[in-house]
Amino acid sequence: MQNSCYNWRERDTSVLLQLTNNMTKRVCLAFLAVVSASIVWFYFVLNTCRSELWMPPGRLLVSGDKDLAAKENQLQQSQLDKVAAVHSSSERFPGFGDKNAIAKENNQLQQTQLDKVPAQHSPPGRLHLQDIKDVIVKGTKQLKLKSHNQVSEIRQVVFAKVHKAASSTVQNILLRFALARDLDVFLPIEGSVINDMGSAIHPGQMIRHPKGKLFDILCSHVVYNRQILKQYFPDSAVRVAVIREPMQQALSALHYYATVYPRKTILAGIEKHRKNPFDGYLQHPEDFYPRPERICAEPGSYISNRMSFDLGFPTLHFVASKENDTKIELFLNRLNQEFEVVLISDYFDESMVLLKRRLGWSIKDIVYLKVNAAQLDRNSIWSQKPTLNSQIVKAFRSCNKLDYELYDFFLPIFLDKVKQQPYFKEELSYFKKVKGDIGAFCLNGNLNKTLEISASEWSAGFSISAWDCQLMSTEEKEMVEIVRSRQLKRYKDLKKSMVN
Ligand SMILES: *[C@@H]1O[C@H](CO)[C@@H](O)[C@H](O)[C@H]1NC(C)=O
Ligand SMILES: *[C@@H]1O[C@H](CO)[C@@H](O)[C@H](O)[C@H]1NC(C)=O
Repeated sequence: MQNSCYNWRERDTSVLLQLTNNMTKRVCLAFLAVVSASIVWFYFVLNTCRSELWMPPGRLLVSGDKDLAAKENQLQQSQLDKVAAVHSSSERFPGFGDKNAIAKENNQLQQTQLDKVPAQHSPPGRLHLQDIKDVIVKGTKQLKLKSHNQVSEIRQVVFAKVHKAASSTVQNILLRFALARDLDVFLPIEGSVINDMGSAIHPGQMIRHPKGKLFDILCSHVVYNRQILKQYFPDSAVRVAVIREPMQQALSALHYYATVYPRKTILAGIEKHRKNPFDGYLQHPEDFYPRPERICAEPGSYISNRMSFDLGFPTLHFVASKENDTKIELFLNRLNQEFEVVLISDYFDESMVLLKRRLGWSIKDIVYLKVNAAQLDRNSIWSQKPTLNSQIVKAFRSCNKLDYELYDFFLPIFLDKVKQQPYFKEELSYFKKVKGDIGAFCLNGNLNKTLEISASEWSAGFSISAWDCQLMSTEEKEMVEIVRSRQLKRYKDLKKSMVN
């Protein structure tokens, strides 16, 4: 019994042993299966992540496997293509820089990135996630900065200063740029207006360059005429204009020419409509014109179609334009060819960032404080909002047909240009932030301090001094005076050196 019992036990133990052995095998097999599945899965995930998230080309895994290397090259190529596609969108910006130069610089940039990555990832085969992320972030930032510094700084700018379209702020920006670099600004001997009622320029009224050279910057009021301006500016100068929603523009002009530079016929109209001049003008425009039969078709009027007049719509065609759309079309197409950028002051910051990119300027160059913006007393007759209804709007639109055609033509072009720009929103919000900081600093009257703005992907570091604040808040006339006296002194020295 004992024996049998023992035997049974022995047999049982061996069965048990066998069973255990089998189970261990199974567990081991299962374990192996799970491990290998995990490896395959991990490898798969790794590859997917790498191709989907990690933009910059570079050897993340280095191995002797030629197939893998070939795959990596393919991956890098597709990434390069992607990056190139993003950057080539700037080429759609007509005339924005030399395309070949941009492409070349892109390639160079990509090459330096390619060169950098393997160096940072030795020893080969190691995957340091943080390092890789750092390189990626750095690379992308560098890419952003680079992509907007591709245009070398442009210093010749012909700016058509359209009346009452925030153009004084643009003028201030251009004059500061000219001051900082001793550029030659095309200026009258006196005052700040080159001409006002027609495109002719009287050379005797203009400051002449002592060496008979051409000028760099135009930003005074002028009735634009490319042929006439050709005598003073190189063809390569970038032509820029700014326009504004026509009703806003006209009402702003009405206010300005009734209060700051009063004009007789406008004052007469105000006299008739003292209660609400805006309503008076919108409902009875004839009261504000010297020749009521020519409302809205009066060339050189300050309160209707002035933007088209400033941009050179032929005086003779003002009346005909009401019936002849071909004349307007020809005008708009010509402007579109002659001007590389028509900015929209209703999108002022967008306009400045676009301008910066087009001209290869810096953030400091385009920062501004509002100048010439009217501060209104709440009791002023001018603080009233005009009454608008569809009939009034329709009448105003028909009266200001030229300016509306102009605005409706260039607004979508502008918005499209903005849309085509890579990283535009990012740079715009950075610009707004920096502008806010600078505005607060300048308003605080920190006369002995400077504000340091640190470098960012959008701009090198720079500082703002009290003098910068002062220039930014200087009004048109005084600003022109500062630039003119500096320029005249420079010319005097130049003449002296020419004599000696
Ligand atoms: C309209 O203007 C165009 C261009 O100036 C001119 O060729 C055409 O004859 C004009 N049409 C009418 C009906 O006057
Ligand atoms: C600014 O600097 C001037 C001279 O350097 C000094 O006289 C003046 O007290 C300073 N003002 C302030 C507010 O620090």
